[in-house]
Amino acid sequence: METLQKKEHWENIYGTKQANEVSWFQQYPKTSMEFIELFSLHKDSKIIDIGGGDSHFVDALLEKGFENITVLDISATAIEKAKARLGQRAENVWWIVADITEFEPEEKYDFWHDRAAFHFLTTEEQADKYVEIANKGIAIGGHLVLGTFSENGPKKCSGLDIKQYSEVSMSAKFEKYFKRIKCITEDHQTPFNTIQNFMFCSFQKEN
Ligand SMILES: C[S@@+](CC[C@H](N)C(=O)[O-])C[C@H]1O[C@@H](n2cnc3c(N)ncnc32)[C@H](O)[C@@H]1O
Repeated sequence: METLQKKEHWENIYGTKQANEVSWFQQYPKTSMEFIELFSLHKDSKIIDIGGGDSHFVDALLEKGFENITVLDISATAIEKAKARLGQRAENVWWIVADITEFEPEEKYDFWHDRAAFHFLTTEEQADKYVEIANKGIAIGGHLVLGTFSENGPKKCSGLDIKQYSEVSMSAKFEKYFKRIKCITEDHQTPFNTIQNFMFCSFQKEN
């Protein structure tokens, strides 16, 4: 799928659905915040949420007092919705509208988070490009947390094909630059009372 088509898809989703009408909605991103706790980040650590959409991850980070947060998404509508929800607090966040596969990081982030964006990169070429971009954008010693549908999860998300990952396949994809720290699976309960099994893995950038 070309960037323009992908962007149209996501602008349409965020332009027509309420936050709790999409399967990935979470009132509180518990698993993601547990990884934040695990890595004992400083309040001024640079954190980026890739494909953050209008997720409440940024709200939870602001609540905890984190001061250097960036949210990147392909959809300008998603970003506008998140900003509107946060009100004045949105001024304390960096916002980037971009396709992750074309992102050229200008910072070295200490914590790179991605819940259910990476899994839309279904070709080896796109996924490998993501790994290279993550490597450029993460500081040495920094952490990467990725959540995708697991091999027991759905094969589609938002009507688009996705690539499922296991602990082994996700680790293999990132092992060129990243050491695996911890992987867990999570049953996400959608607003429609269905279950989606996720694989979350955390990694540390070695050098
Ligand atoms: C399934 S939603 C997950 C949203 C959010 N991470 C969460 O957990 O609530 C996928 C998100 O990734 C974004 N996205 C999809 N492909 C992208 C790409 N190539 N570059 C940047 N963002 C992308 C979508 O706009 C959407 O916000």
